[in-house]
Amino acid sequence: MSVHEIRHPLVRHKLGLMRQKNISTRSFRQLAGEVGNLLTYEASKDLELEDYTLDGWCGDISAERIKGKKITVVPILRAGLGMLDGVLEMIPSAKISVVGLYRDEETLEPVSYFDKLAGDIDQRMALVVDPMLATGGSMNATIDLLKNAGCTSIRALVLVAAPEGIKAVQQAHPDVDIYTASVDDHLNENGYIIPGLGDAGDKIFGTE
Ligand code: URA
Repeated sequence: MSVHEIRHPLVRHKLGLMRQKNISTRSFRQLAGEVGNLLTYEASKDLELEDYTLDGWCGDISAERIKGKKITVVPILRAGLGMLDGVLEMIPSAKISVVGLYRDEETLEPVSYFDKLAGDIDQRMALVVDPMLATGGSMNATIDLLKNAGCTSIRALVLVAAPEGIKAVQQAHPDVDIYTASVDDHLNENGYIIPGLGDAGDKIFGTE
């Protein structure tokens, strides 16, 4: 498994804006989508292409299209929804598989309360989206759920990752690549990523 920390200037710039203390809900939400969009661009860089012939304006021409696996985007409720539109802008025909997990504030363990996956999940590449990879508990639980449903190709897209979360996913799911705008310093005693973004769900939904 590899961790792809995206060093693109647009990603660095937008992530910096997201770290501002008094950022508005509107700006944070917009930037979460934009960074999600750029992470999708990077995470889809190695998709296989095939040649085909199409009926062009000047006759038959040869073109390329993405071959093989179809894609499902998997937002982890609720914060993952904040990246969903940005991902779909890049891959508009993707099916959406929703997973509802929340983190018990005391144990920090994920608790599942909902899932609705694309029917042909075994034939799709899953792009799991969640802004914060903190302990890795929610990501691992979602990957477990997807694998149990037959999904064999999974990538994780997160705005910010803690080293602790990366390690947890690496240990449990060495086949899953992680795409992130930043690998941050550490988790604090409350399970927040430092420096991180604060509570990304609250910032996206304006519930702070
Ligand atoms: N969830 C968040 O929203 N922020 C963190 O820093 C960790 C988990």
